[in-house]
Amino acid sequence: MVDEFMEAILYVNGVRRVLPDGLAHMTLLEYLRGLGLTGTKLGCGEGGCGACTVMVSSYDRTSNKCMHYAVNACLAPLYSVEGMHVISIEGVGHRKRGLHPLQESLASSHGSQCGFCTPGFVMSMYALLRSNKNPPSEEEIEESLAGNLCRCTGYRPIVDAFRVFAKTNDALYIGLSSLSLQDGSSICPSTGKPCSCGSAATCGDGRFQPISYSDTDGAKYSEKELIFPPELLLRKLAPLKLRGDGGMIWYRPVRLQYLLDLKAKHPDAKLLVGNTEVGIEMRLKRLQYKVLIFVGQVPELNTVNVSDNGVEIGSALRLSELLKLLRKVVKERPAHETSACKAFIEQLKWFAGTQIRNVASIGGNICTGSPISDLNPLWMASRAEFRIINCSGDVRSVPANDFFRGYRKVDMESNEILVSVFLPWTRHLEYVKEFKQSHRREDDIAIVNGGMRVFLEERGEELFVSDASIAFGGVAPVTLRARKTEEFLTGKSWSKSLLQDALKVIQSDVLIDEDAPGGMVEFRKSLVLSFFFKFFLWVSHHVRDVKPSIEAFPPSHMSAVQSLSRPCRVGRQDYETVKQGTAVGLPEVHLSARMQVTGEAEYTDDTPVPPNTLHAALVLSKMPHARILSIDDSESKSSLGFSGLFLAKDVPADNKIGPVVADEELFATDVVTCVGQVIGVVVADTHENAKAAAGKVEVVYEELPAILSIKEAIAAKSFHPNTEKMLRKGDVELCFQSGQCDRIIEGEVQMGSQEHFYMEPHGSLVWTSDGGNEVHMISSTQDPHRHQHYVSHVLGLPMSKVVCKTKRIGGGFGGKETRSAFIAAAASVPSYLLNRPVKLILDRDVDMMISGHRHSFVGKYKVGFTNDGKVLAYDLEIYNNGGNSLDLSQAVLEIAMLHSDNVYDIPHVRIIGNVCFTNYPSNTAFRGFGGPQGMLITENWIQRIAAELDRSPEEIKELNFQVEGSITHYSQCLHHCTLHQLWNELKTSCNFLKARGEVDEFNSHNRWKKRGVAMVPTKFGVSFTKTFMNQAGALVHVYTDGTVLVTHGGVEMGQGLHTKVAQVAASAFNIPLGSVFVSETSTDKVPNASPTAASMSSDMYGAAVLDACEQIKARMKPLAAKLSFNSFAELASACYFQRIDLSAHGFYIVPDVGFDWISGKGNPFRYYTYGAAFAEVEIDTLTGDFHTREVDIKLDLGYSLNPAIDIGQIEGAFVQGLGWVALEEVKWGDAAHKWIKSGNLLTCGPGNYKIPTLNDIPFNFNVSLLKGNPNSKGIHSSKAVGEPPFFLASSVFFAIKDAIKAARAEMGLGSKWFNLDTPATPERIRMACFDEFSSPFVSLDFSPKLSV
Ligand SMILES: Cc1cc2nc3c(=O)[nH]c(=O)nc-3n(C[C@H](O)[C@H](O)[C@H](O)COP(=O)(O)OP(=O)(O)OC[C@H]3O[C@@H](n4cnc5c(N)ncnc54)[C@H](O)[C@@H]3O)c2cc1C
Ligand code: FES
Ligand code: FES
Repeated sequence: MVDEFMEAILYVNGVRRVLPDGLAHMTLLEYLRGLGLTGTKLGCGEGGCGACTVMVSSYDRTSNKCMHYAVNACLAPLYSVEGMHVISIEGVGHRKRGLHPLQESLASSHGSQCGFCTPGFVMSMYALLRSNKNPPSEEEIEESLAGNLCRCTGYRPIVDAFRVFAKTNDALYIGLSSLSLQDGSSICPSTGKPCSCGSAATCGDGRFQPISYSDTDGAKYSEKELIFPPELLLRKLAPLKLRGDGGMIWYRPVRLQYLLDLKAKHPDAKLLVGNTEVGIEMRLKRLQYKVLIFVGQVPELNTVNVSDNGVEIGSALRLSELLKLLRKVVKERPAHETSACKAFIEQLKWFAGTQIRNVASIGGNICTGSPISDLNPLWMASRAEFRIINCSGDVRSVPANDFFRGYRKVDMESNEILVSVFLPWTRHLEYVKEFKQSHRREDDIAIVNGGMRVFLEERGEELFVSDASIAFGGVAPVTLRARKTEEFLTGKSWSKSLLQDALKVIQSDVLIDEDAPGGMVEFRKSLVLSFFFKFFLWVSHHVRDVKPSIEAFPPSHMSAVQSLSRPCRVGRQDYETVKQGTAVGLPEVHLSARMQVTGEAEYTDDTPVPPNTLHAALVLSKMPHARILSIDDSESKSSLGFSGLFLAKDVPADNKIGPVVADEELFATDVVTCVGQVIGVVVADTHENAKAAAGKVEVVYEELPAILSIKEAIAAKSFHPNTEKMLRKGDVELCFQSGQCDRIIEGEVQMGSQEHFYMEPHGSLVWTSDGGNEVHMISSTQDPHRHQHYVSHVLGLPMSKVVCKTKRIGGGFGGKETRSAFIAAAASVPSYLLNRPVKLILDRDVDMMISGHRHSFVGKYKVGFTNDGKVLAYDLEIYNNGGNSLDLSQAVLEIAMLHSDNVYDIPHVRIIGNVCFTNYPSNTAFRGFGGPQGMLITENWIQRIAAELDRSPEEIKELNFQVEGSITHYSQCLHHCTLHQLWNELKTSCNFLKARGEVDEFNSHNRWKKRGVAMVPTKFGVSFTKTFMNQAGALVHVYTDGTVLVTHGGVEMGQGLHTKVAQVAASAFNIPLGSVFVSETSTDKVPNASPTAASMSSDMYGAAVLDACEQIKARMKPLAAKLSFNSFAELASACYFQRIDLSAHGFYIVPDVGFDWISGKGNPFRYYTYGAAFAEVEIDTLTGDFHTREVDIKLDLGYSLNPAIDIGQIEGAFVQGLGWVALEEVKWGDAAHKWIKSGNLLTCGPGNYKIPTLNDIPFNFNVSLLKGNPNSKGIHSSKAVGEPPFFLASSVFFAIKDAIKAARAEMGLGSKWFNLDTPATPERIRMACFDEFSSPFVSLDFSPKLSV
């Protein structure tokens, strides 16, 4: 046994740090944030969001090179980077030192909204630039960002910001080191553009040329790139033995023999390399391992040996290295030898994100034995062999085909380890192909994957199958070999009839139980056949190069095997700039952008905590509906670092809370009504200890019957009390009976919910002051006023003694409007009672489980129309899933009802709505607030009318459009209706008729790929429908140096509110924007503020600020008129000496709004924002995969206050809407998903809930604003923007439906109406494309199950 070397070191941003013993349980992220480097964010803790990305540099002794790569710090064990250099966002650029060009570009391209994701994006891109000698291609840039999520921007500006660093013109890149242009300036190696620094000399090896300037002294960014610390080049790699919490031991052997000795000594030790499996097991499944052996640096496990027979690959090789190796091999070896290598290359493209591939090993993937491993089916198909060594040094070889034994069980004993994998070359006429279908194309685990191989033999004019391997993942508890099919194929002649027969055999070979975990049984079965069909076609296509006599498939069938060609994203933004004063109307950059790109911007979790702070974790119900029989805290009390458990009995004042009605309990008393309901709160010395102690609170329940869907609620009449609402216009009954309607259709539309997935989870830091007499808090909320109210209410304090502050939040989208307040209130109880600061930050899974979603809806409609397509009557019963408390569900339902006309003039309307009570966490506000759901129901039946009449949906829409002066079904008259203008301009700019023709042409030539187009209009009403909420306050101070401090009641959550408000103040005083500062939102500055919601904030707070500015200006006016001043500062100073008050409180109420629900009449909205969108998509009918080829959006925003910010809102809302309609599926344990525990949420992390990535945005993404249409009812003639564009994403949904229609037409189904629920996931798309591969399993009208 080798002696352990104990001093562990790490360089962080160029600074040497000795790593103390005892931190083996810690991640790199915890360590960095503990150092105060809070620029690196915790978004999910499971490697799925990229917010924690840092760059790790290490010295590779084999190649004698420094390697730079992006990693997820949340999964990297701290000691795994021992001896390396970690660069976090703080090491890249800083406002004082100067920003890095990447940061500068991202800020100025409007690529940072809430900013929570921003450091992660910068770091991914930074690592890409540093790891490449040459500038990357645009494609490489997009690939490298696949592991980074952004919920705000819609990605387009991020891509644009980074695109300037791409190699765009090869001619520019020859002899990169210090290129000189003819005019004497240089080309910057990092940007590939002529250098703006003006100095040719520094462009050499420094790689990134500074192009920005320090905020403090205006100096150039002159720091050299942080170099690789010389000590690390010289330092010997030594073994490590270090400890961690709970007796954990961490070993790092650096020789195989030492590893084998360790394994002999600790047979139960967990080996790890990338920790991307083990880390998840420990964090999410709470598995504990006492001994961890990090094998990533054992040279024998990292070797690669290319021989005449194949390539032997060390088991610790990282997947990104594997990719490089295979690409090299493919270039160097004869083509027929590398069929398997190419299949691996293709499969690895869709394997996780870059950060995961940079650390995850092939051995980790193989030894986990996951049934959905992407690589295992390929190892099996390609005849790979695994070399295994035991502790005595005996080596054995196991064919991959025999290695996988059961669910996560492999053929390896506890005294064995995997040394290497041998991948043989393929032979002439041997073909290997990979398959994978997931929810989301990029960075997602497979639903079904596969690896297939066939080795053919020439006999005369025919080809015979000499040998075949067919393996599938995702269809059984283990990667499954389709043995019967393999046997069946062997010896047969390769022909079309073989395909037909083999498809029958495979059905009996791959059987999936009806109640198999994972569900989607019909989809998975169809995929198996579809994949095999694709394989057959692919091989047939290739063999025809060798044997042209082999019977060909029709050319249109080639669409089954043509792989997706993914052009780089492009977008056009078209707007007019109407400048008003110094700043209003200009496309100014978000005021915090420069702080966000450097990681300096602080969020709740980044606030330095006061000494003595405790960390809180919630005790949550595990039952959907149950009586609490007992709560046992004895185990919890003895848990490490425990400081207290607080239950309902401990709440100092009222335990009842609720934003509209007090129908919730802060801590459950007798009965719990959903999984995730808060029963109590535990506080301890650390976050991890608090979670552990909370997990040890034993609650005994008596189970009660639960209601787990809207349909169950309707059947049981389970509605929230007094929520039934009705709107009525004309007389629907009479109209249906009158015979005026040529046709009457009835149907049902159901749509799933949506998780907010703001990047920053909920969190609050609460502390007391003045001996416990006052309570203060910093909260991540859209509604600080509600936090103040809840906390004062549960503690029994006057509101005047409670202050809530919010600097900025990392996204809200409605999710932090009400559902954040109970979290602050829960933290306030221990803080108040113990008189100590308490911090409560929710883990992503807890956040997703307990804080509510967008409401799922069911709409039952009856529509009467004429044969011309004119709609005469609309009768709708509409239900939303409120969950276990009312929260805002009533208002959400009302907005859905008010938007149920979308843009259509319907003479007779009746809408009856109800809020369902279900045993789920309370659903809540989400961008659009019910509007999109109401409109989607309508657009569905509009489509159906088109199908009934065999006309285009666009024609039917136009025929029924509202016009100037139309009266809605709630009696509001439409003024300044720009719908027609918008629609016609869009129709022309997207060349709709041409697009339609081209799509039809494409579809006629492609059997298995179909395209579709759609145009969708929207009209979004702007105002809070509760009249009293339409009020806003602001506080403006002018200082004697001429600078202005603005505070107002709105919260900055990325939407650029503070920037717009500052523009209003700057223009009001006629001063530069830089002279205005908008401070944090605080309840002690502006009281009783409404939540930042309903897209109203710029209108309301802009007007309130303007009011305050006007008051101050009025006071300054007499002096300004009397004397002349050279500057505003001189004027302000003079006013001060004249004792003129330079501070004012501004106030604004939205005029002329009000609605009476009893009569169902009134003006609920101040005005409407109109818009329209065109979308073109392409679907793979065999797998359900889709991509959006083009989107054109046109919106009427009056005279935009800031067109750049508004474009960002439109793109962000659209992509979020695209997630809602086509990607994001919330799955609950309900009757539709019996394999999920009753009432539990499956989709509670980025691992199985998929928001759009960069790869999901339209290839061509164009946004334009309507020109020349000032809005007389908005501040500075602008219009609200946050919510209106969201619904336009339904154009993608209807384009998908159009494409499916073309696929069904191939089956003779013509224009027959069919149902498609949202979200239109690959499962729904594929199953709706009814064909010979799905028909064995489903009927024509099959609809995959949906949690509603
Ligand atoms: C965000 C995310 C996305 C992912 N996406 C995908 C995906 O698209 N496709 C997919 O297939 N997987 C995916 N995974 C799963 C995972 O990344 C892979 O399985 C990865 O290859 C595991 O490698 P690792 O080095 O991180 O394993 P580790 O977690 O370090 O180890 C995993 C297991 O392997 C064992 N092990 C490791 N090396 C050896 C050895 N030499 N001998 C014996 N046992 C050994 C360990 O003991 C451990 O049990 C994803 C994971 C995450 C977190
Ligand atoms: S926090 Fe690490 S990937 Fe999300
Ligand atoms: S800016 Fe990307 S998540 Fe907010």
